[in-house]
Amino acid sequence: MENSAVWLIGCRGMLGAEFSRILEQRGLPYTATDREIDVTDPAALAAFAGKRPWPFPLGWIVNCAAYTAVDKAEDDAENCRRLNTLGAANIARAAQHTGAKLIHLSTDYVFNGRGIKTAGAPRPYREDDPTDPVGVYGLTKRDGETLVFQQNKASYVIRTAWLYGEYGKNFVDTMLRLMKEKAGVKVVNDQTGSPTWARDLANLMADMITIENDALPYGVYHYTNEGAVTWFDFAGEIYRQGQKLGILTGNCTVCPCASEEFPAKVNRPAYSVLDKTKIKKTMNMDIPCWDKSLAQFLEQKVKEHARA
Ligand SMILES: NC(=O)c1ccc[n+]([C@@H]2O[C@H](COP(=O)([O-])OP(=O)(O)OC[C@H]3O[C@@H](n4cnc5c(N)ncnc54)[C@H](OP(=O)(O)O)[C@@H]3O)[C@@H](O)[C@H]2O)c1
Repeated sequence: MENSAVWLIGCRGMLGAEFSRILEQRGLPYTATDREIDVTDPAALAAFAGKRPWPFPLGWIVNCAAYTAVDKAEDDAENCRRLNTLGAANIARAAQHTGAKLIHLSTDYVFNGRGIKTAGAPRPYREDDPTDPVGVYGLTKRDGETLVFQQNKASYVIRTAWLYGEYGKNFVDTMLRLMKEKAGVKVVNDQTGSPTWARDLANLMADMITIENDALPYGVYHYTNEGAVTWFDFAGEIYRQGQKLGILTGNCTVCPCASEEFPAKVNRPAYSVLDKTKIKKTMNMDIPCWDKSLAQFLEQKVKEHARA
């Protein structure tokens, strides 16, 4: 991406804020926006894209903006669609007009969460497995993917899952808080997926925009951390590592339970493991295992706490 700049959209979200930090650290030229350039307003996007307030031509648009409140979306479908489907299309059109490549984020919720059955256990979802979203959020994200490629062929859609990170509400912080406050926590043990540190994904995105031209075919890619666990397993490891690092000092029992004990408007996918063979081969990379990344995330918390 020599002599070209990145426009990061959704820079105050969990992933966007992390990506902004990585761009800064790597010294890559970028401009970042969030709600001030409303992605549901095509004119605002076009005007901003045309303004080019950066020293280099616009080479990349990275879209981390989304409507991510899965349950709220069921009663707010129109707004969810405006952001996740029409907003995605608007951004792809702006990319097409300016000749920029697009990285657009999507989700495991484009699948139905029942898994692709082989002999016995389900296998991880591949990029070309049929989508079948079950709720408004998944449906609007799936339709967003379709429109992205219709509007701008020079697009990469990255489907990810179970994100946590330094910026914004996330499962790890919620668990740590509950484990400090309570003698016991119940965590669902019938949903399997791959916890993913936003920093690992942000680093991958930065690698993608700096890779040699033409080395990365356009299309859909899956990315999560390696490994597959239930939320209960994940919570157990948070507890174990939290104790080891001295973040948790008291005792708390982590108990498995069924999803029915936490009723939600949208059933969460029972199985949402994504196959990452394509991204690993294409980028010639290894992906960190979820528990190693969790350790790094928690160690960083400890260091920051010590500095404060
Ligand atoms: N979080 C996960 O576990 C997860 C899992 C799978 C896939 N993903 C996907 O990964 C991507 C990033 O997710 P995230 O968790 O980082 O999202 P997030 O934290 O919810 O951030 C989304 C950002 O978009 C902004 N935004 C909302 N409406 C906007 C508008 N009209 N114009 C411009 N910006 C607007 C939000 O602002 P406000 O905060 O003010 O609304 C927020 O800063 C999304 O595409 C999501 O679907 C996330």
